[in-house]
Amino acid sequence: MHQAKLTLDPAFKVAPVRRRTFGTFVEHLGRCVYTGIYEPGHPTADEDGFRRDVLELTRELGVSTVRYPGGNFVSGYRWEDGVGPVESRPRRLDLAWHSTETNEVGVDEFVRWCRKAGVEPMMALNLGTRGLESALDLLEYCNHPSGTALSDQRVANGSKEPHGIRMWCLGNEMDGPWQTGHKTAREYGRLAAETARAMRMVDPSLELVACGSSGSGMPTFGAWEATVLEEAYDVVDYISCHAYYEEKNGDLGSFLACSTNMEYFISSVAATADHVGARLKSRKRIDISFDEWNVWYMSRSRDRQPDWPVAPPLLEDHYHLADAVAFGGLLITLLRNSDRVTAASLAQLVNVIAPIMTEPGGRVWRQTTFHPFAQASRLAAGDVLRVEASSPAYETADYGEVPLLHAVATHSDEGTTVFAVNRSADRPLSLEIDTRALGGVRVVEATTLTDTDVYARNTADDPDRIAPRPNADVEHDPARVLLPPVSWNVIRLA
Ligand code: AHR
Repeated sequence: MHQAKLTLDPAFKVAPVRRRTFGTFVEHLGRCVYTGIYEPGHPTADEDGFRRDVLELTRELGVSTVRYPGGNFVSGYRWEDGVGPVESRPRRLDLAWHSTETNEVGVDEFVRWCRKAGVEPMMALNLGTRGLESALDLLEYCNHPSGTALSDQRVANGSKEPHGIRMWCLGNEMDGPWQTGHKTAREYGRLAAETARAMRMVDPSLELVACGSSGSGMPTFGAWEATVLEEAYDVVDYISCHAYYEEKNGDLGSFLACSTNMEYFISSVAATADHVGARLKSRKRIDISFDEWNVWYMSRSRDRQPDWPVAPPLLEDHYHLADAVAFGGLLITLLRNSDRVTAASLAQLVNVIAPIMTEPGGRVWRQTTFHPFAQASRLAAGDVLRVEASSPAYETADYGEVPLLHAVATHSDEGTTVFAVNRSADRPLSLEIDTRALGGVRVVEATTLTDTDVYARNTADDPDRIAPRPNADVEHDPARVLLPPVSWNVIRLA
């Protein structure tokens, strides 16, 4: 057995817990929209065609914001196709996913779904095939109360109240050669700045996200952020990060340590943004919107469909326990960096690399990754605390020496919660928690997500194979909890 220790102290405050850390993403991709959130004719469909079973799990997941409508999809999207009478909406080729888009769902339906789910919409703009004018049009359509051509069109389409969308992504992954309308950093930086400046003429209080890198492994990483921010620093609030991880070549040790890359990504982007800020003599600070993150077996994805199908099953990864533990590590990293990462979007919500899976016309179930997200969203409250951990380390091929324990805590008047991962593939970790600075608190609840088979999954037939279970291996004075190998753990103290 390994031994580790962490110290909780309300003085070790990082930042407030940001509700937007618990954002997700709905893209017109595969079955995320059609037979995901929307399926008229499904036994649970409501009067608008939304699946109530998915709505319920979205609420249970504790989602704060939902980014929409892409992703790669947005870079060829004409938002006008998705408004007005459904029967006259055009079908279009979706170049990003080689599919046919029917446009049965568009911005008005999406915002209606958001209201039902109790989430904040976050809109992405097409800066690939389109640009400034269509961005301004969409903004007017969505947010202007009434009395102009586009706002009156929204009212006529059934949305009397403005959609009130605060957060806007200025394009998607424009650094990627796969992106329709891919640009150089200078070209994109100028376009993002022009678009942002014009949008602020409509509403200076909007929150605008410039595209950062699609991954820290991109050849332009670092230089891209610097150039884009040189152009757009004064007019944007966020720079985005996107990162996906998967177990490669059976190297479980490296995979469970993938949050090491995310930590590096965040600190590099923050340093780059601050460097540009210093050169511009600006007192403003650019935050990070980590608006795509997840485990994704990208190397196994077939992204090219031969015959332009409608809503084909794409990117439908079935997550196992080890995926959920790596995922929990990423969530811990986002929380640990809440001083800088003030918004994030798990990509995606339903069916497409998602915590929620559906059968067309049938059942819905929670993937293994559902649980760390739902627990963290429900229990992270007040302030994020550094936990001053000491832990044995292990050697990984990808990241060198990495601690076995990866943890963070949050603290409020209601109590303190520790979120912790044991990355060891074969040995439990006895975790001692120094609670002296908190006064007379005790462990009131400990749960663990684990299994004897690290590759066990949830399925429609066995939906609760992997779910948090009470952890009875708890001692008091000093507080000590046994974390099984390859496990995600939540420990509540009050
Ligand atoms: O989330 C799936 C895809 O990953 C998104 O469309 C794109 O932005 C990223 O490359």
